[in-house]
Amino acid sequence: MREGKNFVYMAALTTSIGSLLFGYDTGVISGAILFVKKQFLLDSAAEGIVVSSVLIGALLGAASGGLLADKLGRRKSIIIAGMLFTIGALVAAVAPDSALLVAGRVITGLGVGLASFTSPLYISEISPSNIRGKLVSLAQFILTIGIVVAYLIDFALAPSSNWRAMFGLAMIPGLALVIGMSLMPESPRWLIDKGKYDQALLVLQEIHETKEQALAHVDKIKKELAEEKTGWHELLAPDVKPMLVIGALLAIFQQVTGINTVIYYAPTIFQMAGFVSASAAIFATVGVGAVNVAVTFVALSLIDKLGRRPLLILSLSGMVASLVVLAFAFSSRFSFTGPLAAFSLMAYVGFFAIGLGPVFWLLISEIYPLSIRGLATSMAALTNWASNFVVALTFLLLIAALGSTGTFLLYAVLGVAALLFVMKYVPETKDLSLEVIQQDIMNRFGAKPKKR
Ligand code: BGC
Repeated sequence: MREGKNFVYMAALTTSIGSLLFGYDTGVISGAILFVKKQFLLDSAAEGIVVSSVLIGALLGAASGGLLADKLGRRKSIIIAGMLFTIGALVAAVAPDSALLVAGRVITGLGVGLASFTSPLYISEISPSNIRGKLVSLAQFILTIGIVVAYLIDFALAPSSNWRAMFGLAMIPGLALVIGMSLMPESPRWLIDKGKYDQALLVLQEIHETKEQALAHVDKIKKELAEEKTGWHELLAPDVKPMLVIGALLAIFQQVTGINTVIYYAPTIFQMAGFVSASAAIFATVGVGAVNVAVTFVALSLIDKLGRRPLLILSLSGMVASLVVLAFAFSSRFSFTGPLAAFSLMAYVGFFAIGLGPVFWLLISEIYPLSIRGLATSMAALTNWASNFVVALTFLLLIAALGSTGTFLLYAVLGVAALLFVMKYVPETKDLSLEVIQQDIMNRFGAKPKKR
């Protein structure tokens, strides 16, 4: 029964397996690394490489994702992502040494990068506009569920030190994504772009009830596509640059304030704080993941009520305060270092989830003119993955050089910079048209908008 909204929900849900795997495959390393480093006797640098290898793949996957999605279509790209998830999981699970493990994680990363870009694209192109925002934001929520599922599986498998199964289990949703997407139709927008109007009409008839409505949509999409025809040179237009700066800096700030040191290394941080067994550290991490899911769920309903700016400001202020407390907890060994570290880590993740987490992805889909939205959004996503990579790779080296207190204080200082940036330059987008948003950005940057 592929009809109307049910069909759209089914398509969005199937595609969201990509987001689930994005979360699972980036979260699973946190517990697995404790056993991997023992088995392969890794030093800090090698450990950083194993943790970050998925991000190298993601970077490449996001970089090539746009091209693939345009050439082969959204559906085939997501199927390819599913295959990469499955093969990557298999290689990592059977890896006899750390080099092959890194190879498996890079393959998985290609899938993560590809899915991070193509899943929301497919969802937004297949959804009617009245439920599009909700369905796209739902992907971030499902991502956080993927992370917590990874933590739970890490926790369940920790007693047997079975890191191979931790990686290998991702094959199941990977295959589900391949099979599920094979049963889904191509994005009507892509079909129209390729001149396949009849096929597009069939898909649109499944989304919209009548043939007339579907035909009207074909015309509307044709018009929008004509507007979108553009090249990279558009990105350098003077009135577009401030928007690119906002997207890129938000992408960088989302990462350099340290969120993924917690998502990827939480058990390691808990061990540094005095949680002796791997199981206790992983268990505390499950709490962190649960806070992330619960608060992201709350954020989904607040985003449209309170607006993006208030949530970002609340989020960054709370993250900075939590990081300062975390730094204090590590500054000398108290009897309450462990509980205080656990409490401040959870508060930090909660404050991230209420704003900076979901709002970044939402804002980059809102602030760009339609004519450059695809390119500009993919550039922001790429910047996000690159910053993510740098932070994950340097975290343990920073701990060795600056100590835990110094490292968390550094993230706090970057958080203050992010807060000042948001207060001065980031526009409100709730309920506002693109013209008003653009004007606001120009005012904030002290430039005049050019008539587009
Ligand atoms: C970030 C990811 C992060 C996740 C945590 C996302 O918004 O882009 O890097 O792992 O949130 O929930």
